[in-house]
Amino acid sequence: MQDSETVDQIDDTPIARAAQAAVQAIGRAGEGLPRPAATRVIVVANQKGGVGKTTTTVNMAASLAMHGLRVLVVDLDPQGNASTALGIDHHAEVPSIYDVLVEGKPMADVVQPVVDVEGLFCVPATIDLAGAEIELVSLVARESRLQRAIAAYEQPLDYILIDCPPSLGLLTVNALVAGREVLIPIQCEYYALEGLGQLLRNVELVRAHLNPALHVSTILLTMYDARTRLAAQVAEEVRTHFRNEVLSTAIPRSVRISEAPSYGQTVLTYDPGSTGALSYLEAARELAQRAVGPGGGSLVGQQRGGSSTGHGAPVAQHGTTEGHQ
Ligand SMILES: Nc1ncnc2c1ncn2[C@@H]1O[C@H](COP(=O)(O)OP(=O)(O)O)[C@@H](O)[C@H]1O
Ligand SMILES: [Mg+2]
Repeated sequence: MQDSETVDQIDDTPIARAAQAAVQAIGRAGEGLPRPAATRVIVVANQKGGVGKTTTTVNMAASLAMHGLRVLVVDLDPQGNASTALGIDHHAEVPSIYDVLVEGKPMADVVQPVVDVEGLFCVPATIDLAGAEIELVSLVARESRLQRAIAAYEQPLDYILIDCPPSLGLLTVNALVAGREVLIPIQCEYYALEGLGQLLRNVELVRAHLNPALHVSTILLTMYDARTRLAAQVAEEVRTHFRNEVLSTAIPRSVRISEAPSYGQTVLTYDPGSTGALSYLEAARELAQRAVGPGGGSLVGQQRGGSSTGHGAPVAQHGTTEGHQ
């Protein structure tokens, strides 16, 4: 559908050409990916650190952009790891998501294009954001500042991926109010499901009180090591609990994936032919197609605020924890 258009849009650099070659290495990828009817705003969340939120955000975003889609990554973690991985400068003076959330600066003033990946943009996070969790408390509409900023940002985008910090504080709540879908990366290790209940309760609280369209749409198994029985057991358990949400592609543990950020790159440009790159391309294809494919058409034609149905996540009862701490 967008095949030739996709190729034309890619920068003519060696890295971009290699990346494009990798995109086409997956036969089906050459067909392009469906463009969603409205911008899909996806919150990548899990209050556990080190499960692959940032890695998933930047590599899914790059994969989608390499198929000719327009994608914005919002870095909402004071560590700024997503900004680093996308090669975006985020020292203290750089205009960032902090200015948007706390100072009310328009998002258009802080968005930066990602070099080497046409159609990919980033709102960086600086260390200032560490204070925002507290500064936001006394501000008007403290939970919906990101949602308002995104609503006022008029650039045509197919996807916005929000990389959350490893906590369930006001920054993550802002993301959950701004988004419609939640993508939970789960690392295939022993404690994988611990703490997930709390995240799901928070999603449910935000859905009930602030954002009726919010739902867990996608779960991605990360750092999967096919050689261990434990990984297979955890994957099996997650698939049993979240039959409709788990992508069939699991991301393998891959040295190339972990090396890429230190070069300011995603694995898609760092080593386009690696299994890590190919698995993220495949996961992104699934993400893009299940929203519009048979049985998964939850996004097309639905307006924000509509009810979300058919999502089998076992969301716990509300009221058991304070979600907006
Ligand atoms: N599939 C993978 N294979 C190998 N290392 C990975 C993989 N995914 C993530 N990592 C590494 O694991 C660490 C944590 O990942 P990260 O995406 O930063 O997690 P989070 O954002 O949830 O804290 C990082 O050093 C990252 O490079
Ligand atoms: Mg992170």
